[in-house]
Amino acid sequence: MASLSFALVFLLVSSSCLVLDARKPHVVKGMSLTFYKSSCPNVEKIVTDHLRKVFREDIGQAAALLRVHFHDCFVQGCDGSVLLDGSASGPSEQDAPPNLTLRPEAFVIINELRELVHKKCGQVVSCSDIVALAARDSIALSGGPHYRVPLGRRDGLTFATRNATLSSLPSPTSQTPALIAALSRINLDVTDLVALSGGHTIGIGHCTSFEERLYPTQDTTMDKSFAKDLKVTCPKLNYSNTTPLDIRSPNKFDNKYYVDLINRQGLFTSDQDLYTNETTRPIVTEFAMNETAFFEQFALSMVRMGQLSVLTGTKGEIRANCSARNSPRSALSSVVDDEGEDDAFYGESEL
Ligand SMILES: *[C@@H]1O[C@H](CO)[C@@H](O)[C@H](O)[C@H]1NC(C)=O
Ligand SMILES: *[C@@H]1O[C@H](CO)[C@@H](O)[C@H](O)[C@H]1NC(C)=O
Ligand SMILES: *[C@@H]1O[C@H](CO)[C@@H](O)[C@H](O)[C@H]1NC(C)=O
Ligand SMILES: *[C@@H]1O[C@H](CO)[C@@H](O)[C@H](O)[C@H]1NC(C)=O
Ligand SMILES: *[C@@H]1O[C@H](CO)[C@@H](O)[C@H](O)[C@H]1NC(C)=O
Ligand SMILES: *[C@@H]1O[C@H](CO)[C@@H](O)[C@H](O)[C@H]1NC(C)=O
Repeated sequence: MASLSFALVFLLVSSSCLVLDARKPHVVKGMSLTFYKSSCPNVEKIVTDHLRKVFREDIGQAAALLRVHFHDCFVQGCDGSVLLDGSASGPSEQDAPPNLTLRPEAFVIINELRELVHKKCGQVVSCSDIVALAARDSIALSGGPHYRVPLGRRDGLTFATRNATLSSLPSPTSQTPALIAALSRINLDVTDLVALSGGHTIGIGHCTSFEERLYPTQDTTMDKSFAKDLKVTCPKLNYSNTTPLDIRSPNKFDNKYYVDLINRQGLFTSDQDLYTNETTRPIVTEFAMNETAFFEQFALSMVRMGQLSVLTGTKGEIRANCSARNSPRSALSSVVDDEGEDDAFYGESEL
């Protein structure tokens, strides 16, 4: 009897360890949850306090900041290259395709945060870490999960070229197989895809990113009255309006995005096809029914994505200005480095 209960306890304990192990985020070598413990112990509080004020004025900035982190990580790794003046879809990029345009205010906010942090601690915290923290707080302050962010990223010296940007970011017009393929190239799996797509629970989309579902013929996977409303917002092709990504709760980070998909009210093809496709549909259904399951997976997937091809140790630099590299010396190396962008993006992620 004693040995039986011992065996049971052992089983229970060991299986729960396995579960915890599987769910515990992997921290990449060179990164740490307590990276600034002695050099800038208040960095997280400074970021959170400032963003609280920003969001009180305009909660729309939460989605904009989350998007900056996604773009940063998908294009040549989480190295702050998206912040550089001169990067495609960066703050000074005027001719980036509309679907890539990030909100200029988000870049201003990142630089404000950098200034507050550096004023307090000196030039020790990277812009890419500030982006990761800002994304985390955007989620938490909008009602989503709070998770701990591994820190220690260093800022890259190379611009993101237009080509690298276009080829790395999954398109809103893509269907599930293309999305799965794009994410698997950076070691993210099908569950990561469905969870990270849930970031569309906040934010807005431009007509040009979904107009192909309305004109010339209406996408049959779209709810008819939803399509009718969208045609009012986007009366013709190439219209500049925007509309919420999650019609049920546009500014709240919750699992309603998945409920939208089940009701065929996903905005982009890349959203709705997650429900249409038989591979991803069960995950959509699970997240629609169980917000806790979504929140847990979203946090894990964000931590994974947030460590893609990070620069650590003595690589890269800590920028004094998030929009510009520190020294003109590095301009030369970037011309050479640009050729190797695919390596930086696909080659180094430890997930
Ligand atoms: C960028 O992509 C276009 C079209 O795919 C190609 O023609 C062009 O050569 C590429 N440019 C560079 C610098 O790789
Ligand atoms: C953005 O839209 C353009 C057309 O407007 C398209 O060629 C391109 O593939 C899209 N890129 C992404 C990443 O969505
Ligand atoms: C759904 O996605 C899977 C995985 O990419 C793919 O093999 C399958 O063909 C897709 N189904 C449809 C109907 O497109
Ligand atoms: C779309 O509209 C913009 C101005 O809003 C214009 O510059 C562009 O040429 C238009 N594109 C097409 C394909 O009509
Ligand atoms: C919801 O998901 C959580 C986390 O995965 C799980 O612990 C819980 O049992 C699930 N709830 C239901 C009702 O399935
Ligand atoms: C930061 O760099 C950008 C791009 O070079 C520049 O326009 C801006 O004035 C700089 N800001 C500060 C405070 O130096």
